[in-house]
This record gives sequence, C-alpha cells and structure tokens, in this order.
Amino acid sequence: MCGIIGYCGPKSAEKVLIEGLKRLEYRGYDSAGICVILDGKLVLAKRKGKIRDLQAHLPRTLAGNCGIGHTRWATHGEVNDTNAHPHADCTVRIAVVHNGIIENFATLKDRLISEGHSFASETDSEVIAHLVEKYYAGDLEEAVKKALSLIKGTYGIVCLHADQPDLLVGARHGSPLVLGIGDGEMFLASDVTAIISHTKQVVYLEDGEVVSLSSRDYRTTDLHDQEIEKKVEHISWELEEIEKAGFSHFMEKEIFEQPESIKRAMRGRLDFEEATAHLGGLNMSTRDLLNVERVRIVAAGTSLHAGMVGMYLLESVARIPCTVEISSELRYRNPIVERNTLHFVVSQSGETADTLYAMRELQRKGATVLGICNVVGSTIARETDGGVYIHSGPEIAVASTKAFTSQITVFYLFTLLLSRMRDMSFEAGQEFIQNLQSIPAKIETVLSRSKAIEGLAKKYCEYQDFLFLGRGINYPVAMEGALKLKEISYIHAEGYSAAELKHGPIALIGEDTPSLFLVPDDALRDKVISNLKEVKSRGGRVIAVAVEGDEVIAEIADDVIEVPRVKECFYPLVMVIPLQLLAYYCAVQLGRDVDQPRNLAKSVTVE
Ligand code: M6R
Repeated sequence: MCGIIGYCGPKSAEKVLIEGLKRLEYRGYDSAGICVILDGKLVLAKRKGKIRDLQAHLPRTLAGNCGIGHTRWATHGEVNDTNAHPHADCTVRIAVVHNGIIENFATLKDRLISEGHSFASETDSEVIAHLVEKYYAGDLEEAVKKALSLIKGTYGIVCLHADQPDLLVGARHGSPLVLGIGDGEMFLASDVTAIISHTKQVVYLEDGEVVSLSSRDYRTTDLHDQEIEKKVEHISWELEEIEKAGFSHFMEKEIFEQPESIKRAMRGRLDFEEATAHLGGLNMSTRDLLNVERVRIVAAGTSLHAGMVGMYLLESVARIPCTVEISSELRYRNPIVERNTLHFVVSQSGETADTLYAMRELQRKGATVLGICNVVGSTIARETDGGVYIHSGPEIAVASTKAFTSQITVFYLFTLLLSRMRDMSFEAGQEFIQNLQSIPAKIETVLSRSKAIEGLAKKYCEYQDFLFLGRGINYPVAMEGALKLKEISYIHAEGYSAAELKHGPIALIGEDTPSLFLVPDDALRDKVISNLKEVKSRGGRVIAVAVEGDEVIAEIADDVIEVPRVKECFYPLVMVIPLQLLAYYCAVQLGRDVDQPRNLAKSVTVE
C-alpha cells in the first residue's frame, strides 16, 4: 500500500520520481507528491488525485538531482493535498515519505506539540519528520535512527535534508524497501517496478535495516549502527513486462497472458517419466511430505479463492484433509497448530499484512509454513520455511487474474506430488500431467471468444446486482467471479454455492438480479441444473458457463458462454477466464478505472 521512490544521481530527480510514481501508482492512488533538494532548499509539490494531477501542478523550478516521491493510499487523515506525502518538519529542511502505520503517533505528536512543533497534516507519518528534526545535529542517519527507535508500528521510509543534497536515508520495518544500484546513481523504492527502467541491480532491505546512500555509494546498518553486508541481487524480468504491450489496460493484458503464465508456473516442475512434480523450494524431504497428515491454507481475497480450489484438490485427489482460512481471522483466534499439519500461505504480492501476520502467528506456534507467492524477495517469500514461486511475472492491475490461475496451477503440482507418494498410480499421474498440460491451449480457446463475452457485458452491465453460483471445486470460482465483478465494475455481486440458493439468496431472484451459473459436466451437474431451473422458474435471467455443445443448458439459460471440456478437477482454470473477461468488459463499458478501482490498492500492507 502506497508507493515510495527516492533518487540521487546526475539525472533530473523530478523526471525519475514522476516516472517511478507512475509505475507505482497501482499501489495507491488517492494523492501523490515529490520533494526535491534545490539550491539548499526543499521544493515540495503535493496533490490530491492521480500522478497526472500532480504533474499538472508541478512548480517550474524543480531542477534538483536528489529527491523523494510518494503515491498514497490513505489510512490516517482524509485525502487532500496537505495529507499527501512527502511530509516536512517545522523548518521545511527535512522531508520524509512513509509507508505503513505508526501506532503510537498520537502520543508522539502530543509530545512534539508540547515541545513546540507545529503539524500541518492529520497523518501519522508527519511525526517522523518532526522527530528527525528534533534529533538532527548534522547527521541525518543518526537522527533517523533516533527517531525510529521511538516508533511503534510499521514503516518503510525515505528521508532527506536540505543541507545534504546528495544523501537519502531509508529504513524498513514491515513495509518493503529496495535499493537500486545504478551507474553513478542510486534509487530507493517500495518495489522494483519503480526502478527497473534504470537498473536491475538491487538490494532488498530487511526489517530493522537502515540504508544511507549518495549517488555513488551506500551503507547498510541496523538501528544500533552495526554494519550489515547485503547481497546484491539481479532482477530477471524485463521492462516490457510492466508495460501494457498494446492492450488497453494491464488487467486485459494479464488476462490474455494466462496461457503463458500457467506454463511458466509448470515449467521445469513436471516429470512425465516419474509421473510426478518437483517442487524443490518446499525444502521438504520425501519423509517430511509423507508425514503430512493435514494441510491448512491461509490467504486473503483472490488468493483465498485459489486456496479453496487447492483444498478441493488436496482432499479429492490427494485425499489429505485440508482447511482454508481467511488470514485476518486466523491471526486473532489463537489458532491451534497440530503436529503434522502443513501450512500454506498464498499471496501474490507476498506483502499482505493480514497474511503476513497470520503466518508469523503460526510460526510462533511452531508451524511449518510454506509460501505460494509471485513477488520474488517479498516479505512472505523470505519469511516462510519454504515455498513455490508462481512466476507469473509482475501483476500490475489491482484485480488479480493471472496470479489466481498460477496459484491454482501450483496446487495442481503439489497435489500431484503428494498423490503420487500415496494412492495415485503411475498411469493416473501421467494422465494428470497430460490434462494439466492441455489447459493453456483450452484457455486460448476461451480467450478467442472474448468478443462474445464483451457483447454479454454490454447486455448485462447496467444491472445493479449479480449472483455467481457454482458447486464443488467451482464454488470458489463463483466467489472469485463475484469478487472480480464488484471490485472493478462496482456492480454488487455475491458468490454462492448453487445449493445454498434455496437457503436464502433465492429471495433476491427476480428480473433485476441475473445469475451466472457455472455448469461443468461433472458429478454435480444435474444438481446445478436443478438450481438453475429454480432460478428460471422465478423469472431470473441466467448466464451459464457450460461445456461446448451442451444442448440442455443452451435450452434453459438466457445466454451461454462455452468452455472446452476438461477433466473434472481442472475446470476452475477454464471456468474462471470468462468471469474475468465479463468483469473486465463490464468495467470498461461503465467507464470505470479498470486498473485502479476506487478505494483499493494492489498490495494491502495494513491490517
Ligand atoms: O497479494 P495478495 O495475494 O496477498 O492479495 C490478497 C488480496 O488483497 C487480493 O487478492 C485482492 O483481493 C485482489 N485485489 C483481488 O483481485
């Protein structure tokens, strides 16, 4: 949540900061600001709205070479120019950008006010600038460390001082910060997307670490001034991956990337000869895996829905008892960690606070926790005991699409691995692999029907309410379809098990509330058809996602989206595609801000 960028080097800081903020805008986009050191003074520009609003109001004289920038997702204080970052001290000599939440800010603020400091904003972040002011005696790093030692909460910060035109001090505790090492220039950012166009050499800061940098050099220490040697890492992905490549929106691009991203999630991990999967990152021996008696999956949002699909798979195919829990709920219910239970946390960003804290709570209680993450080097990826990267490439749209299908793909791999250690025969393992490998081509087929789905979006986008209904392994897909629609089109939608309709939601059915039914040709098909008929007989409109050539469905549904036939347990991967497209086209049709829907941000790093 919120994006940070800092720059020291020969280029125009303004240009680097604005470009970086545009790439970070998906992290938070209610206001933005930059601060540049110019002729021994700080020039600050802050604006409510998008980066383009800030750009339209930049002062003419911003020609410095060292500066910081921030794009905000508000937590403390309303969305306005004043509450936008950077925040300055009383003398406007020090400025800071901050991600995270300072829990004891009210106490610190009262104390600082009683000492004569005056505050401009309602934010928690501003206390950092005043604390640094209080402790500054010529050494910015020292002042920052003293200030941070008083802070309770989470932070990723970057701070500068007007007297030090080639110095930035950054620190992290709970909010990511990465150092970018260029040729005669240095960067700090909340994630690498902001700096990848300048450098691929990066250093990920850990909690409790502080970095001081100039355009040529950097030094990493802890809060007690102990030097820390850091590994320089190389970013493997390319700039094109964070550009739209001719698509209108990142979400559209990411939906269409799925045949490829699913292949990437499988690449090098399937072993046809042995009819199994290899997931080296799990850090578990065969014996460890054989000892697994239960699996618990913990996640939020779309990742939670992927975890639910994983649960159905693990139970029905690998025959391992499995539960799925909302991370924010698990954390506060004093969870019981049973022996021989393997835990998975699933998170695209690897930074979701609810999931991260749930993971730490589980680890505190002795659980082995594995991660299924996309962002390499993210906090969850680093703190888990092992795990699997989904290798989707950067997912920029706030609405998660390709990460969902890749997370599920990893669950197929894990299911295969466990199943082959237990009851699954060699032949069944090979058949499982073939079925999984056939999915990307089937998704291509669904994507080739996008025009028809766009047509349906035009027909249905004016409705205010929607129900999404599925059963079994496709029930979480229904939930995911509803989440996608409400998140980006702001149409109210609920996902239910089709069987639950009669226990309440059916009261909503009428001409004004269409239902979308997922009707694969699986064991529950007849039951879903009965539910569908119950809706039709009450005057409800029905869109069905059904298997190609299903004449029964064609007869009873108002509209049908066809998907290719696949083996039962693989339907989630093909069924979710039309739902993503429907949500996307509805949002476009309604003129919504598809990639940056209101009130949301890509990674939710606050509780
Ligand atoms: O990064 P994570 O996967 O941990 O994020 C979890 C949710 O915040 C995320 O999936 C959210 O629900 C998406 N915006 C859904 O599209």
